[in-house]
Amino acid sequence: MADSTRLDGQVAIVTGAARGIGRGIAQVLAEAGATIVIGDLLDAGVTVEEIRAGGGQADSMVMDTSKPGDARALVDLALSGFGQLDILVNNAGIDAPDGNVWDLPDGEWQRVIDVNLSGVFYCSRAALQPMLEVGKGCIVNISSQSARLGTKGMSPAYNASKAGVLGLTMAFSAQVADRGIRVNAIMPGLVESRDFGWPKDKLEARTKEYPLGLGTPRDVGEAVRYLVSPAARWISATHLHIAGGYQKGSSWF
Ligand SMILES: NC(=O)c1ccc[n+]([C@@H]2O[C@H](COP(=O)([O-])OP(=O)(O)OC[C@H]3O[C@@H](n4cnc5c(N)ncnc54)[C@H](O)[C@@H]3O)[C@@H](O)[C@H]2O)c1
Repeated sequence: MADSTRLDGQVAIVTGAARGIGRGIAQVLAEAGATIVIGDLLDAGVTVEEIRAGGGQADSMVMDTSKPGDARALVDLALSGFGQLDILVNNAGIDAPDGNVWDLPDGEWQRVIDVNLSGVFYCSRAALQPMLEVGKGCIVNISSQSARLGTKGMSPAYNASKAGVLGLTMAFSAQVADRGIRVNAIMPGLVESRDFGWPKDKLEARTKEYPLGLGTPRDVGEAVRYLVSPAARWISATHLHIAGGYQKGSSWF
């Protein structure tokens, strides 16, 4: 039986794939047959080289998703280099600075909103133009379970930005689903994408909240692969909460 999650012949932009979750997403999509185009503030040469070493195709550029012109340039790179754009994964994001609402400087609020929310808007707007021309495409937005769970001592800008990403997901889907484009979101729980610099007891306490252990970047990649594949052809305007059985503060949604 044919594998309905293969992505052969498709071109995917993954933002923020120089490291961490984005790198895991890029690896998994490349293994499924997609050509990968990366946009990141950092040089993504390591991810590009590992995809090429595995027999895949990839390219990258240094850019800032919170700048509309950079978002357009990234889409142009995919079109000029590989002739098409089928998939956009809005993964680039920044962490919440430490602090409660009453002591957060304006600049910290603004930067989190600019990158985590406006960046998703700018990249999606740029990617939708070629997708609408051909009448097909998929967008996956990396939100977070923090969209619906606040944390004492962490900037509310992060929660707001990730909840906003879910709002964009619904709005985009309403506007483009009947033109052949699907838009979904993923809400990951804690993913060990890097060393968080936490004391050992804090990491152990957080890990205990996840019956299946902490997530890996590739776990998120596998969820993205499913959502952008033909296997999910009837799925749009929804979110996948992937969090290793974590249920703290969970409701039905
Ligand atoms: N790690 C987790 O536990 C977790 C949980 C839920 C959601 N997320 C989300 O997953 C995404 C990836 O997280 P991560 O843990 O891999 O982070 P990370 O910091 O390890 O990697 C983020 C990547 O995005 C890039 N980036 C940041 N701002 C950018 C910008 N303006 N333009 C272009 N590139 C930019 C960085 O250079 C980096 O390569 C983020 O959106 C994050 O909010 C992470």
